[in-house]
Amino acid sequence: MFHETEVPVKDPSSTAVITKTFSIGMGALRVFLTCALIILLLWAIGVFETDPYIKATLDLKGSKDNGEKLFKINCVGCHGITAQGLLGPDLHEVTDNFSEAAIINQIIQGATPPMPSFEMEPQKMADLMAYLNSLK
Ligand code: HEC
Repeated sequence: MFHETEVPVKDPSSTAVITKTFSIGMGALRVFLTCALIILLLWAIGVFETDPYIKATLDLKGSKDNGEKLFKINCVGCHGITAQGLLGPDLHEVTDNFSEAAIINQIIQGATPPMPSFEMEPQKMADLMAYLNSLK
């Protein structure tokens, strides 16, 4: 009789301790991941905006027609003749979905193979942005 009461009391209390520790762990992890994401986002925005090349480009007014020529030479092989998407994604909504700074970063970084990195004067990049903006 003595043993029968002792065992059930011991078991549930140790289970409860484990469950509690686990749920605190998950909560902390979620808070940590959220903070990490926010910091990463702020960092990325900060980096894009202070990059001198991107800043210079954003200060210029681009020509859509010149941008279209640049696009036809450099981008249509992957993004399609009207930017409708081919190997690379459709770019008609790209200026709605991403900031110009993020798009410029994508074009100059080559961080997402097979898309290569491109180097061009800020004026040419501004022209390209004018074309991408005209697509929506
Ligand atoms: C060799 C093929 C290739 C060429 C050339 C290329 N791209 Fe891409 N591009 C891609 C691929 C593939 C992706 C998707 C990458 C990824 O997984 O995020 C992409 C993604 C993008 C994105 C992001 C779109 C999104 O929705 O995530 C932009 C903007 C873009 N390309 C613009 C350009 C421009 C402008 C040019 C010409 C200067 C160009 N690309 C040339 C293959 C290419």
